[in-house]
Amino acid sequence: MPDTLDPADPAFARDPYPYYARLRATGPAARVTLANGTDAWLVTGHRQAREVLADPRFSNVPPPAAGRPKPDSPAQQARGCLARHMLNTDAPDHTRLRRLTTAAFTPRRVDALRPRIERLTADLAADVADRLARGETVDLVDAFAFPLPVLVIGEVLGVPTADRADLRTWTYRVGSPADALPAGAVDRAWTSLHAYFTALIADKRRSPGDDLFSTLVHDEADGGLDDGELLAMAFLLLFAGYETTMNLLASASLLLLTHPRELAAARQGGPAGWAAVTEETLRHASPLEGTTWRRTTEEVHLGGGVVVPAGASVLVVLAAANRDPAAFPEPDAFRPGRYAPGSGERAAPHAAFGHGPHFCLGSRLARLEAETALPALFGEDRGTPAFALAADPAELPYRPGLLVRGPRHLPVVRATPAG
Ligand code: HEM
Repeated sequence: MPDTLDPADPAFARDPYPYYARLRATGPAARVTLANGTDAWLVTGHRQAREVLADPRFSNVPPPAAGRPKPDSPAQQARGCLARHMLNTDAPDHTRLRRLTTAAFTPRRVDALRPRIERLTADLAADVADRLARGETVDLVDAFAFPLPVLVIGEVLGVPTADRADLRTWTYRVGSPADALPAGAVDRAWTSLHAYFTALIADKRRSPGDDLFSTLVHDEADGGLDDGELLAMAFLLLFAGYETTMNLLASASLLLLTHPRELAAARQGGPAGWAAVTEETLRHASPLEGTTWRRTTEEVHLGGGVVVPAGASVLVVLAAANRDPAAFPEPDAFRPGRYAPGSGERAAPHAAFGHGPHFCLGSRLARLEAETALPALFGEDRGTPAFALAADPAELPYRPGLLVRGPRHLPVVRATPAG
């Protein structure tokens, strides 16, 4: 078992599953050394992942210096604001932030976004269709999987339509590797986002809109959220909401393009078929590869002889938990049928949205987006011409790191009719 893990290794980023399977075979959690020299405990078992995420002895509060750059430039100040978000807190701070946020993200309010999501999806799909019809190669990540979630977060935050292009540009830049852009571009994007969200909060305080964020700005329960908390929340909603959903849409598209039988079954199955594809993609290609880091407040016995010492850095690897053969038969197979109603299978719930007090707040929204977007691109009655992958799936580059996972590019071309 290699005891040093390099999350930046392109081969690992593309297919980390054999490594996780070998690690799981040694026990439900194992200590590894990361390429940067950090020691970490990776939890790979499905049952233990859920146990850890529900156990308050695994704290979400980062150690004093970690994740908090010295705020000596405007861009670092902006990054520092994000560090105050609720994923970095434990009870009772977390309980208060969570209660307020849950009150804004009610199922009714999320479902009310459906017509707008349908409109945004239809516009992006029409653009993809036009370009394919003109014979262009279209990158489904750049043209569809990235912009849709960013535009939807724009709806959640109540960003006026005229500002959406800026939001999209800044988000793209802060999410890009620093060496992919001209020097200073990433920092300038952070500063612009910070200034924009600060002004947006002031604007919502003066004149609330019908968006979810306005509800948060004006909720007075428990003293409400202060401006710093609102700023951290705006950043968190953007980052928690777009990169994950982008990877879900990109991975689902790739899986459908490479599994024609499952695509045909989804088309036949209608809404339930697309919902099953969404669930199985969440399990099979977990968009959040690992949760945020936890730190043990005391020694913890995880069973199977595994003892995690106090003060250890712990990562729950959702991608590994979701391929645990003890929870999922044929864990490496992409079989949406396991989540299809009436299939007779009672598949275990996947852990892609986490578990316990930090369970994803946007799971309903993410599912709504995927279940709207996939039929818009792949449904039989869509306007998009039939298309095919224009790359070898085994060669596609993936995002590096242990946090998010998904293809960076997904080039497609109009399919030539058979015969
Ligand atoms: C496919 C899409 C998504 C996936 C796979 C996903 C996954 C997750 C996971 C695993 C966590 C828990 C992390 C941890 O315990 O360290 C989480 C938390 C969170 N997610 Fe999502 N998420 C998705 C989409 C969204 C969207 C669309 C939003 C909002 C617009 C959102 C907002 C949040 C927030 C605010 C938290 C923190 C909750 C807390 O700390 O109590 N997520 N998400």
